[in-house]
Amino acid sequence: MRSEVTFLGTVRRVVGARVLVELSPALPSSIPIIEGRSYRVGQIGSFVRIPLGFLNLYGIVSMVGASEVPQSEVHGQLPPAGQRWLEVQLVGESYGRRDFQRGVSLFPTLEDEVHIVTEHDLTVIYGERGPGQIQLGSHATSANLPATVSLDKLVTRHAAVIGSTGSGKSNAIACLLKALTEGNYPSARVVVVDPHGEYRAAFQDRARVFSIGGSVDRLVVPYWALSFDELAWFLIDRRQASESLQESAIRAYMSSEKQRRCSDLKAGLVDPNSITADAPIPFGLRELWYHFDRQERVTYKDMGRTDEALLEEGNAATLSPARFEPPGVGSTPPYKPNPGTTLNMGSNLNKILARLKDKRFEFLLDPGRYNGSDLDLDDLLRSWIDHGTAITVLDLGGVPSDVMDLIVGVITRILFESMFWGRSLEGTGRQRPLLLVYEEAHSYLPRKSGEQFVAGYAARAVRRVFKEGRKYGVGAVVVSQRPSELDETVLSQCGTFFTLRLSNSDDQSRVRSVMPDSLAGMVELLPALRTGEALVIGEAVVLPTRIRLPLTEPRPKSSDPEVHVAWSKERKEDVQYSAALTDWRRQGLKHEN
Ligand SMILES: Nc1ncnc2c1ncn2[C@@H]1O[C@H](COP(=O)(O)OP(=O)(O)OP(=O)(O)O)[C@@H](O)[C@H]1O
Ligand SMILES: [Mg+2]
Repeated sequence: MRSEVTFLGTVRRVVGARVLVELSPALPSSIPIIEGRSYRVGQIGSFVRIPLGFLNLYGIVSMVGASEVPQSEVHGQLPPAGQRWLEVQLVGESYGRRDFQRGVSLFPTLEDEVHIVTEHDLTVIYGERGPGQIQLGSHATSANLPATVSLDKLVTRHAAVIGSTGSGKSNAIACLLKALTEGNYPSARVVVVDPHGEYRAAFQDRARVFSIGGSVDRLVVPYWALSFDELAWFLIDRRQASESLQESAIRAYMSSEKQRRCSDLKAGLVDPNSITADAPIPFGLRELWYHFDRQERVTYKDMGRTDEALLEEGNAATLSPARFEPPGVGSTPPYKPNPGTTLNMGSNLNKILARLKDKRFEFLLDPGRYNGSDLDLDDLLRSWIDHGTAITVLDLGGVPSDVMDLIVGVITRILFESMFWGRSLEGTGRQRPLLLVYEEAHSYLPRKSGEQFVAGYAARAVRRVFKEGRKYGVGAVVVSQRPSELDETVLSQCGTFFTLRLSNSDDQSRVRSVMPDSLAGMVELLPALRTGEALVIGEAVVLPTRIRLPLTEPRPKSSDPEVHVAWSKERKEDVQYSAALTDWRRQGLKHEN
């Protein structure tokens, strides 16, 4: 009724799902008070209700104006000057005041009434908190109303959390993970790929944190789980698909060593005939180096090249080469191998040796007890995704930036393959989904692969998760400051977007491109969002929603430094730069606070 306190105005124009509403001149102010609560009329992103008999239509306010004319209306009939109007996008309907559904079955017509949506109506739209919903803060316009998202849709349809630096993305992830650990989900499992080591502080004993050089949980990514391509890229800088003679020899050595190991694998034996150099089966990398190095150095006492002129065997484990008598001059013994039989591996061997000696790659090249007999990949998987707590943080803080792409790729592949091959096993696969969170994804999932060091290993593996993960119970969330620089396949497969404050116009247009056309206007909100406020669009929410996330405590270690406090302290005389240098050299933080 027009006399109701919620009465806002009348429908003046309907174009598809877009409705132009003339505000009632009788509306006393723009902040009417209804049931003791004040409502601001015409907030962008707020709702209105259009009752049509038993049916209630709901729309989102996308534009507001007075006297001036919206650009889109210049060809049509204009609202008379001096009046106040709202542009509303219809989004759903309910019968009576229950059972909200997306989409509309009837459209309003001229002179239909438009009402303010009260908090009660909002509970109709967003529903009571049912099973499978997790709470992430509250509605930005209505602090009393909890904002919930569907856990199923969030995990199986993937999500993206995007926003400029400092807009609150890491805090949003911490809120999400906290909701999981605090909810009743004892079998939940989430792996956070954390390139900057921010999350240890946020979860403390509620997460298991693996880090490079970690004293308790050391991050190990066994080199033997890499495919031949990946290993060749890393060890000998192989950059093209074609294979040199030397590379083929390495491949052949790896296959035969992997086939040999098939008979003593802890996790179970496999038929050697089905094994290639790509199989995730242990082999000795140091032995590989020793084997080829020895072939390069060997000399013979006899012309027939059967009797080696060996001085001393070396040791693969300590990377000491074998020693032979130096070759004689001209045709005097000792003899070098026949020219046609040598591979000239010198430069490749030097590269392999340099990698093996580099402390920074210990987590990869020295897998310790993960040798297939003491511990196998299944033990590694168990330690990553099946322990007392729901959350695993893989702190990649110490991973050199040039191999970040490779490492994220391998980690993703190990996890994905385990879910793929375990898809019908009890307690994993589809029966117990896994959520992967990729922090700072723009740094290893760039839009154009192949630049500089990025070979696209991460992109390939993560794209597979986004495209096929749903079928095997793997969900993923990417977190990024720069959606415009993020891999397109990954972004286009995200079902839900949590968009925090976003000021860059390229990034905004990326978000606009994934929004339904009718709501593209809401993108204009993005630069004005407060820190910790997110526009949530997509499958996990009934309707696009502006939510306000609480600040989690303890926080991820990403808080802004307080410059004025830090700089106003007394100057410290004896700063331990040497400690920083030592940690830099040994690639591990000794004293972290
Ligand atoms: N919901 C919130 N309410 C209030 N303050 C917040 C909220 N979320 C984050 N902040 C503040 O904003 C700062 C940055 O937050 P956060 O680290 O989550 O940003 P970010 O988007 O992850 O940034 P980056 O892209 O640099 O990683 C923090 O210092 C935190 O105190
Ligand atoms: Mg962050």
